[in-house]
Amino acid sequence: MITINFKRGQETIPVQVDEGMTIMEAARDYGDLPEIPGDCGGCCACATCHIKIDESWISKIGKVKEGSFEGTLIEYEKGYDPNTSRLGCQIQLNKEHDGLVVHLLDNHKI
Ligand code: FES
Repeated sequence: MITINFKRGQETIPVQVDEGMTIMEAARDYGDLPEIPGDCGGCCACATCHIKIDESWISKIGKVKEGSFEGTLIEYEKGYDPNTSRLGCQIQLNKEHDGLVVHLLDNHKI
């Protein structure tokens, strides 16, 4: 198990997940976080899994690739930041990501 630290403002919500899950699944299925409905189930079609990677982790996770399918979907999202925004369903977690800090957005809160 690894721990992902979701940030909602100043609040930190640690969520334990199995390796191989995505950030979207960690938030939706393990953490039950309403900010990430993950409507399309992870097929990179809805952008409701938009999150921001903490700057201290971006070198490990990587920025969104311009012109990629993810990039074209995410760039119109409210609050998009090319340096930190990612779609949570496109990031698969492994043990290197233990302790990862992810900032939640309330764009899609239901
Ligand atoms: Fe739909 Fe990520 S869950 S794009």
